[in-house]
Amino acid sequence: MKICVTGGMGYIGSHTCVELIKNNHVPVIIDNLSNSNKEVLNRIETITGYRPKFYKLDLIKEERLDKIFKKEKFDAVIHFAGLKAVGESVKKPKLYYGNNIGISVILLKVMRRNGVKNIIFSSSATVYGVPTHVPLVETDPIGEATNPYGQTKIEIEKMLMREHEIDPSFNIVLLRYFNPVGAHESGLMGEDPWGIPNNLMPYINQVAVGRRECLTIFGNDYPTHDGTGVRDYIHVVDLALGHVAALKPIQEKQGLKIYNLGTGKGTSVLDLVKAYDEANNIQIKYQIGPRRAGDVAENYADATLAKNELGWEAKFNIVEMCRDSYNWQKKNPNGYNVEPSEK
Ligand code: NAD
Ligand code: UFG
Repeated sequence: MKICVTGGMGYIGSHTCVELIKNNHVPVIIDNLSNSNKEVLNRIETITGYRPKFYKLDLIKEERLDKIFKKEKFDAVIHFAGLKAVGESVKKPKLYYGNNIGISVILLKVMRRNGVKNIIFSSSATVYGVPTHVPLVETDPIGEATNPYGQTKIEIEKMLMREHEIDPSFNIVLLRYFNPVGAHESGLMGEDPWGIPNNLMPYINQVAVGRRECLTIFGNDYPTHDGTGVRDYIHVVDLALGHVAALKPIQEKQGLKIYNLGTGKGTSVLDLVKAYDEANNIQIKYQIGPRRAGDVAENYADATLAKNELGWEAKFNIVEMCRDSYNWQKKNPNGYNVEPSEK
């Protein structure tokens, strides 16, 4: 299929492009590079031997987006584009509503106008709100958003659900990701956050390569097996393959489908640090700090629906996730930023 990949230069989008190419699909990337680097295209080409077509465009620009759709005649869209920093969304809610919801409204309008009725959307476990139980199942109700970023995911999900209600021939797959980590095994692609990382694995990576002194663990008094927060970490390549698998209900015109993409296993912060040390034969320095506002004790997926219906299952374990994360950071201590001499 010829697939419009919005946000395809980003962390999850770039890994998904690689797996799409390997599975004989043709990704065309649209991204404004607000949180990514054009070097990603070279890396995709090195890994796959194919350089995807890339349009540098802010999706808010409806007319230009429409022209691209008229020219490319896409079969489907995978919609990754969006801002994703929870803390920033609390400080700048309008930026998040405007960007994430705004571009999704325009994308949907342009899709409709051009008769493209197939979309896979990057949603998040955050739509469940504060879990009342784990594991989380797709039939669990959408909860109260704990921050504006989460609110945008809820609103976009609802907008897409309404679209399907109005027009049942619109095929929509909502993928609710748990905690993506890891990197391509080549070490050529990985997560490259700007500034101080908000998330656990990129922070550990930067401690490992000496960019940060010490990891602060946000609380060790949660009601979990060792007191630290438990999450469902999933290797980004498994997640990417989840998108390839999600093309099945799209191709079969199954209408509206919702899947959790996780491993179904909970890992605590201390478990993750231990796995990282073991995988890479190093010792991550850490200290215990206070809880981070808004964090929940435990969050993990029931991912059996994706297994039963898509034939998809996460394959990588936590040690492999830590191995690949470090391999990427070791080979690219400053991420995609090419040295001045290479520019
Ligand atoms: P990312 O920031 O690496 O990728 C997002 C891409 O979208 C970036 O390349 C950015 O430049 C682009 N973008 C943002 N606004 C745009 C706009 N207006 N026009 C065009 N391009 C725009 O993030 P990621 O980790 O790859 O996440 C991809 C998607 O998955 C996001 O929607 C995110 O909310 C969702 N998600 C991510 C996680 C996670 O932990 N990484 C978890 C759940 C859901
Ligand atoms: N943590 C630390 N120290 C750090 C960073 C994180 O101890 O420096 C802990 C957190 O307290 C939490 C765990 O590591 O217990 C994971 O934290 P992350 O920030 O990596 O991930 P979250 O589960 O908080 O959030 C992620 C995504 C959100 C998404 C949410 C639910 O970042 O976008 O999962 O899917 F909404």
